[in-house]
Amino acid sequence: MQRRRQSAVVAGVIAAVVFAVLAVALPWHGHSKRKGTGTDPLAGVTLREQAATRDIAIGVGANSQRLLDPRYQQLIGSNFNSITDTNAFKWDVTEPRPGEFNFTAADRVVSVAERYHLRVRGHTLIWHNQNPSWLTQGHWTKAALKAVMKRHIMSVVGRYRGLVAQWDVVNEALTTAKPSGRYVLRSDLWEKVIGPEYVADAFIWAHEADPSAQLFYNDYGAEAPSRRFDAEYRMVARLKAAGVPINGVGLQMHRPVPKAPPYYPTKAQVSTVLRQFADIGVHTEITEMDQPLPLPPQPAQLGLQASLFEQMTAACLSVQLCGGVTIWGADDSDRYPVLIKRDLGAATLFTTSGQPKLAYRGVLAALIKAPGPLAQARGEPQTVP
Ligand code: XIL
Repeated sequence: MQRRRQSAVVAGVIAAVVFAVLAVALPWHGHSKRKGTGTDPLAGVTLREQAATRDIAIGVGANSQRLLDPRYQQLIGSNFNSITDTNAFKWDVTEPRPGEFNFTAADRVVSVAERYHLRVRGHTLIWHNQNPSWLTQGHWTKAALKAVMKRHIMSVVGRYRGLVAQWDVVNEALTTAKPSGRYVLRSDLWEKVIGPEYVADAFIWAHEADPSAQLFYNDYGAEAPSRRFDAEYRMVARLKAAGVPINGVGLQMHRPVPKAPPYYPTKAQVSTVLRQFADIGVHTEITEMDQPLPLPPQPAQLGLQASLFEQMTAACLSVQLCGGVTIWGADDSDRYPVLIKRDLGAATLFTTSGQPKLAYRGVLAALIKAPGPLAQARGEPQTVP
């Protein structure tokens, strides 16, 4: 956290500049290209610049195919400082045939990240979905599957050693056992053939392949205190106590905007979860936030969406070990198959034509209002010098 302390001084200076800018109420400029009214309190500030003053990653879940379009690259590079590709690092893409790797899409993500100075999150190494059929339909002994898993992790993480800062090593390993309702390890290929030790194995091999990478467990549905969160917390605490190299937990946060209250999870609930992990030295990030709406989106829903984006970002900013917030999709054209099937969309910060939405201003407002890095460490509100 040394970096946070050092950046506190810089943050203070930048905060003063921001307030000076607000005082003279400059119109919107730069990436949004919108004309301001002259009284816009968020005028002249961009998401990426403001994120830098808070020492937080504001990330995007991108589509590697669309990265071929320079306008898409530009939208990402000017507004975000972190990138996760939503598919390019998954097993079916990176190792479509046994031992034959294809890094075309992942390489493109990494090269765009280098061009725009974006941090890269690698998503994901071990999951129950988006695996090639040779893997899911193979007849495996425990030793053979372990060897395949090790080769995959060593090859993928090894290739991007020093380039991918953070890996979702294991994704969505927990599920509800029926009929007890208890949360247990999902009975997928990994658990059935290797047993529960596959989780620790994956982290150990990822660490061996890149000792400098931050290694995360990533899951959905554990964003608020709940039985699911308890199960996740117990698993992570146990891994850490056993000396497994796990650095953090990702909260996916795919949450459709509800029509009416209660809104779940609340900012307080999310902060509680983040703080409990921080208390045992575990870093956190919101890794896949989107807020899908029924299409076409209604103005009131877009306003509510903005306030939910603001609250979730503020929850992360309220806990020192929460290092980032990633929005799953760069603009509202980034709709993944489940959303298309349910006629949901408009889930991101930018319209289909790349204009910033109220949701963008929600995230920006959270960044502007947040106490600075030093104040976070002390738990005090930041005073502007
Ligand atoms: C989704 C991608 O966004 C889609 O493009 C793909 O078709 C399916 O997967 N949890 C995860 C993500 O961890 O990898 C999923 O991403 C969404 C749910």
